[in-house]
Amino acid sequence: MTVQRIPQAVIGPVTPAAIFLTLVVEPGREQAARDALAEVSGLVRAVGMRSLDDGLTCVTGIGAAFWDRAFTAPRPEHLHPFQPLDGPRRAPATPGDLLFHIRAGRMDMCFELAQRLGELLRGTARIIDEVHGFRYWDARNMLGFVDGTENPTGPARAEVALTGDDSDHPASSYVIVQRYTHDLDGWRALTVEQQEAAIGRTKLSDIEIPDGQKAPNSHVSLNVIEDADGTEHEILRDNMPFGSVADGTFGTYFIGYAADVTTTERMLRNMFLGDPAGTTDRILDFSTAQTGALFFVPSQDELDDPDLLDQVPASAVGQTGVAAGETAADVAWKRAAAPAGPA
Ligand code: HEM
Repeated sequence: MTVQRIPQAVIGPVTPAAIFLTLVVEPGREQAARDALAEVSGLVRAVGMRSLDDGLTCVTGIGAAFWDRAFTAPRPEHLHPFQPLDGPRRAPATPGDLLFHIRAGRMDMCFELAQRLGELLRGTARIIDEVHGFRYWDARNMLGFVDGTENPTGPARAEVALTGDDSDHPASSYVIVQRYTHDLDGWRALTVEQQEAAIGRTKLSDIEIPDGQKAPNSHVSLNVIEDADGTEHEILRDNMPFGSVADGTFGTYFIGYAADVTTTERMLRNMFLGDPAGTTDRILDFSTAQTGALFFVPSQDELDDPDLLDQVPASAVGQTGVAAGETAADVAWKRAAAPAGPA
């Protein structure tokens, strides 16, 4: 029997404001952090209700190291530590037990929720990265280009970003985040034509440069993932610019959701190691990845009742002695207690 699950607000629309919080859970506070997960949606409702038109949402992600400390069930199929890349360009792996991706029409709502989450987790988890992202002009990033144009639309958003009924955790997702800083002086020293060649789209009108004319090291060339039969593999992005004039920091917070995180990982390999090897992404000559982390985004039902995450994944049901709804601990106990079968 398939369990019907409701997803978190993964496929929500791009909003004018977002806050990204990455946290590490203090040693010994695993149960407290697990309990706190169940409180998140109540906080989102309480803050969101104060201005319904501003569409406050929050997506919560769980990192591999925290999963191993807090849950007894096996990790979800694609949850593993972020794979760092060290080639012509460097994509570091940085810590992250929990991720909150807060979105709304107004920054004050994002800020209020971030503050409430901070209170909820005080003494339990430390915020190690906090980025306030804003919509910049007509959805442009700090490099001056429109960002997000080729995202999937309509029903394709869910198909790309959410796992299906055949998954060990239906209606869930996987998200990779990276905080990038840009060398804006270097970028601005390029001509507009050189910048357009680096991205693979025109700057003002945001039109894709035709295939035959697109540079092989352009960002778009390296991120269009097609099988030999022409099937395209996509992800759902919600990048946000951020910055500090005083510090001279100008960046892009990359966030990519996928049902199949191997697609995002392939894009990263193309960008950082090159495809073919050595043909790395031209935007990386002006962009440095400062962080990198991968999180599992459980369904809303699982987030609201984290004990569900300790149930044996649907894919294991049917294996000897495993029934639907059992916890991993139940199964381990039953197996240990069962008389040994024939060798
Ligand atoms: C497209 C910027 C990082 C995947 C684009 C576009 C821009 C852009 C301007 C073209 C407009 C659009 O379709 O959205 C950036 C910047 C980044 C960044 C400034 C960080 C410095 C990444 C990363 C990935 C990625 C890390 C994947 C792991 C994609 C994909 C497309 C895209 C899949 C659409 C390609 C297509 O189908 O045309 N990005 N991006 N981007 N980017 Fe990025």
